[in-house]
Amino acid sequence: MTTFEPGFLWGAATSSYQIEGAVAEDGRLPSIWDTFCATPGKVDNGDSGAVAADHYHRYPEDVAIMRELGLGAYRFSIAWPRVQPLGSGAANERGLDFYRRLVDTLLDNDIQPWPTLYHWDLPQPLEDAGGWPERDTALRFAEYAQIVHEALGDRVAHWTTLNEPWCSAFLGYATGRHAPGRQEPAASIRAAHHLLLGHGLAVQAMPDARVGITLNLSHVTAGSNADEDVDAARRIDGMQNRIFLDPLLLAEYPADVMRDLEPVTDFGFVQEDDLKTIAAPIDFLGVNYYSPMLVGHGTEARPSAYVGSEHVQHLDGGRARTSIGWEIDPHGLLDLLLRLDREYPDVPLYVTENGAAFDDEVHDAGRVAYLDGHVRACAEAISRGVALKGYFAWSLLDNFEWSFGYAQRFGLVHVDYDTQRRTPKDSARWYAGVIRRGGL
Ligand code: FCB
Repeated sequence: MTTFEPGFLWGAATSSYQIEGAVAEDGRLPSIWDTFCATPGKVDNGDSGAVAADHYHRYPEDVAIMRELGLGAYRFSIAWPRVQPLGSGAANERGLDFYRRLVDTLLDNDIQPWPTLYHWDLPQPLEDAGGWPERDTALRFAEYAQIVHEALGDRVAHWTTLNEPWCSAFLGYATGRHAPGRQEPAASIRAAHHLLLGHGLAVQAMPDARVGITLNLSHVTAGSNADEDVDAARRIDGMQNRIFLDPLLLAEYPADVMRDLEPVTDFGFVQEDDLKTIAAPIDFLGVNYYSPMLVGHGTEARPSAYVGSEHVQHLDGGRARTSIGWEIDPHGLLDLLLRLDREYPDVPLYVTENGAAFDDEVHDAGRVAYLDGHVRACAEAISRGVALKGYFAWSLLDNFEWSFGYAQRFGLVHVDYDTQRRTPKDSARWYAGVIRRGGL
């Protein structure tokens, strides 16, 4: 049997726009995702988060499910457009009240609330003013963080500033595959910096809180030992991992990444002391891991999320894939955790997302196998000395999977979108057993 320490935190994760619905209730105004979904051709099947899993109204039932599973923590996100519908100015108390109710219900059920302040739903007026490429958005984010912390700080111990700034910056502003759908590679680098700056300013705005950030990191391997392929892997590692890890944990942008980006930007938007702000000590690093990356040099440049490295090709590693097309490789998670421990020691780690999309409904052997393999990788990492403190499965519920709409189901719990009926899948029962036994 593989066991974990009794204090190891077992949780599940969701995000506001993917589950809440109720997009026009209690004073909420549109975010960039409402706008993006309303733009023809952006989201599969024309889907949107307007209703989603109706969690806004059904949260008591959802917390009851969490309790049945035995979750120690629930990672959710707070919708900025509920709290500050215009992205600035006074707080909307009715929006905050929803999170007060949710947090209280979690605490009544002995489930630790793990809120994330930003899981991509930027208030539309801030995008209209230029969005994350503008420095002002970082200042607005810190103001919002302060409002939420003042409202919930007495009840919430662990805070996460951002979820996956890589997606916000590079899918939002380089490829345009995510909201706001802009295709402006140079602006996407400014967005990345201002997201990081917003994180650092938010840390300052929440004194005495335990604060972390969640990154989507990947283990990147070169397709061959040829210099060009090795260089491709260095570049993608730079733009996926180090462009965030180094400022946050080493107070600098990686020199090689800045060199790769020379044709795109001179980093003139980085002001004195920004890196000091960004590198304010954090209490934990959240790691979202789904799939490894195998890359090689390509001859043809194509528009890419990897700005400045558009000629790099993504290669097929020959492994089985989930229904969303992502290769399955628990070893990639182990390699990633070992690397973080080696190169960025001293910061406790949590896997804040890990999971799989499959078309199966309630009998989801594929998802059980995926989770089992990745939880084993976590155990192996811990046995090799990695300070991994917890694991959150993505996701508690089937939900709105961004540009894929409702077609991709990641939930431990099945949601029938016609009736909103919740049915725990085999993976939910499996996970409850892992939590009960404290291991596999
Ligand atoms: C991550 C996101 C999360 C979900 C999973 C599948 O990139 O943080 O919202 O969409 O992927």
